[in-house]
Amino acid sequence: MIGGMSGSSLYLDGVSVVFDGFRALNNLSLIIEPGELRAIIGPNGAGKTTMMDIVTGKTRPTTGVVRFGEHDLTRLDEPAIANLGIGRKFQKPTVFDALTVFENLELALKAPRDPWSCLRWVLGAPARRRIEGVMEEIGLAERARDRAAILSHGQRQWLEIGMLLMQEPQLLLVDEPVAGMTDQETEHTAALLRRIAGQRSVVVVEHDLEFVRALGEKVTVLCEGTVLSEGSIDHVQNDPRVIEVYLGR
Ligand SMILES: Nc1ncnc2c1ncn2[C@@H]1O[C@H](COP(=O)(O)OP(=O)(O)OP(=O)(O)O)[C@@H](O)[C@H]1O
Ligand SMILES: [Mg+2]
Repeated sequence: MIGGMSGSSLYLDGVSVVFDGFRALNNLSLIIEPGELRAIIGPNGAGKTTMMDIVTGKTRPTTGVVRFGEHDLTRLDEPAIANLGIGRKFQKPTVFDALTVFENLELALKAPRDPWSCLRWVLGAPARRRIEGVMEEIGLAERARDRAAILSHGQRQWLEIGMLLMQEPQLLLVDEPVAGMTDQETEHTAALLRRIAGQRSVVVVEHDLEFVRALGEKVTVLCEGTVLSEGSIDHVQNDPRVIEVYLGR
């Protein structure tokens, strides 16, 4: 294990993905340390979402190494990768409108693996405490009894993140979380992701550079399927190559 911390590193080395002759990823190498919060930016079609598809097993690399700790992710299917503790948030939330915040989180706790376990389910004190802990983490403790239907767009996204946290992921992948959010919701989302990283790794793809700046962590710029630049937001924003292909448009 790198760095001696608990948890696993995500390790991509020389990853290429070819769709009908088109290289969506081109010799991509990337390491995410345990507990790290990493932002990924880059122009449309740079391969950001494809990179997440590779990690979750949705897409297979044509060549290259993809490891999570000691696990070779290229040999595992999507459910097996999810079971390793790799969670993914899609842009469209899958919260249940008719259920309350609490009930949505309760459902996320029961959801996995054995479908029959639901039938035997009784919500014990430890489970209740975990739901309450996650509601605090996502800033919705005061909304516990409110139906998801009446939440704002931003609050629904946070609830979705909370549902992923119920599964206690080691690595969370988040694709464009602040699209459609108000400025204040965007700020809250940056604070939320800062809060939840550390205990697990978080990789967040986003075009909103104010949001990426608010995350205050290392930024990777992808372009044409490979890493163009990496470093602080100030470093990458001042990198002439990044300005040319991404920022200067
Ligand atoms: N299943 C697929 N079959 C064929 N081409 C694909 C497939 N998935 C992605 N691509 C292509 O690969 C390239 C990279 O796409 P990807 O969605 O990863 O980009 P992105 O960086 O997430 O872009 P955006 O910022 O627009 O979300 C695009 O040209 C896309 O059309
Ligand atoms: Mg994308």
